[in-house]
Amino acid sequence: MKTKAGAILSSIRIDRSVDQKISVQLYMGLRDVILGGGLSGRLPASRTLATEVGVSRTTVIEAVGRLVSEGLVESRVGAGTYVSSTIGQRVDIARKKTEPKKGKRPKLAHSAKRAARQFVHRDQLPRKSQSFITALPALDSFPMAQWARLSARHWRGDRDAVMGYGYPQGLPRLRAAIATHLNATRGINCEPEQLFIVAGAQHAFSLIAGTLLNRGEKVWFENPGAIGARNALVARGANLAAVQVDADGLDVEDGLRKAPNFRLAFVTPSHQQPLGRIMSLKRRLALLQAAEGADALIVEDDYDGDFYYGNQPLPTLKSIDTANRVIYVGTFSKTLFPSLRLGFFVAPPNLVDTFSRIFASELSGTPTWPQAVVADFMDEGHFATHVRAMRALYRQRHDVLHEEASRLAGLLNIEKASAGFHTIGRLEDGLSEKRVVAAAAQAGLILSPISRYCLSPIAEKGLVIGYGSTDASQIRQGMTVLRRVLRG
Ligand SMILES: Cc1ncc(COP(=O)(O)O)c(C=O)c1O
Repeated sequence: MKTKAGAILSSIRIDRSVDQKISVQLYMGLRDVILGGGLSGRLPASRTLATEVGVSRTTVIEAVGRLVSEGLVESRVGAGTYVSSTIGQRVDIARKKTEPKKGKRPKLAHSAKRAARQFVHRDQLPRKSQSFITALPALDSFPMAQWARLSARHWRGDRDAVMGYGYPQGLPRLRAAIATHLNATRGINCEPEQLFIVAGAQHAFSLIAGTLLNRGEKVWFENPGAIGARNALVARGANLAAVQVDADGLDVEDGLRKAPNFRLAFVTPSHQQPLGRIMSLKRRLALLQAAEGADALIVEDDYDGDFYYGNQPLPTLKSIDTANRVIYVGTFSKTLFPSLRLGFFVAPPNLVDTFSRIFASELSGTPTWPQAVVADFMDEGHFATHVRAMRALYRQRHDVLHEEASRLAGLLNIEKASAGFHTIGRLEDGLSEKRVVAAAAQAGLILSPISRYCLSPIAEKGLVIGYGSTDASQIRQGMTVLRRVLRG
């Protein structure tokens, strides 16, 4: 040994509060010491190791056993356990791995360079329920037990079905279940063949743009509009026209003025992202007509359309699309949970062949077993029950937010919403978005300014406020903190 065992072993930290076996922690600690060159020659006896680190001898034997099986140490009969004689080379390799490599960055494709200049930086994607965070559904109310039961069933069933390569276009059973759901709840008549399962709506946007757009072609984009979709489109070379959004949703006249020869329009008609407006029927019809006139297609992003709690939902664009202009995109990130990374799109019949060929020849599909679990969840009726319950819950959470909103009067005017689980708060004159967002962050609140969603500046100033992921008491607490921030 290069140094005394005690000094080396004291660098190994065992944390009993973390959810990781002690023997694994010890194995990792010893491995790091050995690869770092801190230990060579004979290992201390297992009894010494156990005393020094404060663990049982069995734990030591388990950890050392793993080091032996990985060839980092070797047992010599009657002579103890030694750090492997070839470890010197490994230490060199490990050191090289951790040293940052210098040198010139490889040349990037022009498209990647161009896109990087236009990307809007996305903050960390929301992972944890938190006051006012957007995009995260009510994870606290997800039926975990049911989900776990259905998942377990697949691991007890036919191995080929869960472990072999799946279906590039998506599990047929899931596509059939989605087609039934869309028909029943969104008025969309489509065949399962028109459905393509993807790794979230974001994946659909990239695929659609990559298939339909040539570089520099005009795309109508809501201003303000969805950041992820915007980045996906610019990455595929889209030339975005910032089309204004008013009380009726995307302003079709403005689009025709700015880019009459548009190739694609990206819209969120059921609940505009981020302003929360619902596109009027008149505008929906005008948009369909404009697309037909320009021989363009429309991407309808219905990300949270299942959660409508107003009087009567308007028909989806897809359900009134008589000229095959609409590609409807849906996601399970809001109806179930975002880490699932499952979404889908409905291609018009005249594009099914094109997408089928792309999926069959270029893509290998999304993981099979989560699709199978979702299909069961839908077929057994849990999906419809969950969506119904969440619709009621989001309405309740919305109402709590609104009861509290009067406390912010004169500072922030929070709009009523009738869908989804975010709305906007309009800042009164004299309050700067940037300063409020920074002060809120200091107080532990994550708020997004409307300006982040803008392609070109707009007059409205305000904050996007999520209310889906936290319960009533957390919403009230958040509002108390927000009031303090705004007053400050
Ligand atoms: C407008 C919009 N569309 C779609 C999505 C869902 O994207 P994904 O399905 O990739 O999680 C989001 C997520 O927040 C969104 O804001």
